[in-house]
Amino acid sequence: MIQIFILTISPEMFQGPFNCGLFQKAVDKGVVKVDIRNIRDYTHDKHHTTDDTPYGGGAGMVMKPEPIFEAVETIKAELAQQEISDVPVILMTPQGQLLTQAVAQRLTQYQNMIIICGQYEGVDERVREHLVTEEISIGDYVLSGGELAAMVVVNTVVRLLPGFLGSPESLITESHTDGLLEYPQYTRPPEFRNWVVPEVLLSGNHAQIAKWRKNQSIIRTKQRRPDMIERAS
Ligand code: 6GU
Repeated sequence: MIQIFILTISPEMFQGPFNCGLFQKAVDKGVVKVDIRNIRDYTHDKHHTTDDTPYGGGAGMVMKPEPIFEAVETIKAELAQQEISDVPVILMTPQGQLLTQAVAQRLTQYQNMIIICGQYEGVDERVREHLVTEEISIGDYVLSGGELAAMVVVNTVVRLLPGFLGSPESLITESHTDGLLEYPQYTRPPEFRNWVVPEVLLSGNHAQIAKWRKNQSIIRTKQRRPDMIERAS
């Protein structure tokens, strides 16, 4: 069981991805627990202010440090009651380390984690310096907030956990796991609109099938992602 706390100013955004399909099943099976907290609930002023204008001027707003610190410290205190310490605090930001399959794999080692969804215009630097243990980005483009990115991180991590997938073998052959893209897949019918399934796949010769698939993976990766071939062993 992994427990993931998400701090956001838009908790409604998380309704879809965490309440449907395989993810919902994983929640029901106790593979994951997601606890979404509204940063606004950790403010104390009349207007529940979570952001303010930047010192030094300039466009946009900056997320205030106090409610974020209070939210994280509240969660840490709750966990301390259960004798849980050393909880990673992850900030979603386009300035973070790029999410890869290896990063997702590494995050599966944690039993608990706190994810802060930053607004892209920024979070007060003191949050980064004194609260956050790592920063993650999901790619070189800008989202209006870290919420969608947090959903991506949670999905990539949780689907790797034991009990999430019906057949965990599919994790071994999927794209990016061995540094290559996945081979082409086919299902019935063997012929559809005159397009036939490659004969080797119908042969029942498992050694030949494995060889064909490996070869297809390499061809496909060379064509589409030459950058991955350079890094693949
Ligand atoms: Cl983590 N946040 C935002 N706002 N934009 C992003 C991102 C994160 N990752 C890629 N773009």
